[in-house]
Amino acid sequence: METGIRDIPDYPSPGILFKDITPLLADPALFAKAVDALAAAHRPGSGAEVDVVAGVEARGFIFGAGVALALGVGFVPIRKKGKLPYATVSAEYTLEYGTAVIEVHEDAVRPGQRVLLLDDVLATGGTAEAAAGLLEQVGAEVVALSFLVELGFLGGRDRLAGRQVNSLLHY
Ligand code: PRP
Repeated sequence: METGIRDIPDYPSPGILFKDITPLLADPALFAKAVDALAAAHRPGSGAEVDVVAGVEARGFIFGAGVALALGVGFVPIRKKGKLPYATVSAEYTLEYGTAVIEVHEDAVRPGQRVLLLDDVLATGGTAEAAAGLLEQVGAEVVALSFLVELGFLGGRDRLAGRQVNSLLHY
């Protein structure tokens, strides 16, 4: 099956096998299929409807925005440190390769709003764990975390134990 995802060895550092999603993005049929599949579990009548979709910079924006439009809800960006203009809450986390800080606007959601968190890849789960924590800190109910790709051998799903985790492609 054509996935539109190619392996790039030793990027961004030696020993890392990077999943490059740009061929999928360049193929409108594959891109639409991916967004549709990510939105499916949260369609009206699913019992898992959401009020908002949140996405993590940078590639989580691409799928998050698509899914938000597909579901007819708004989009909340979770950004790398220093990029959001209004008052923020922030979290530091460890990555497969390094550490980072992400932030969200403190008024990004209304109390109790049901949020779907989107990202392209679930690797160690550090980013998703931090992002879900931020959303909860600003009052959201995180209904589910959805990913295009899950790198199962890195154990991200275990790190997110107790949360609803969905992914389309497993490696
Ligand atoms: C990648 C990916 C996820 C995260 C997954 O983003 O898009 O956000 O890593 O890794 P984890 O599960 O081990 O936390 P990256 O930090 O490379 O940022 P980018 O999208 O801005 O390139």
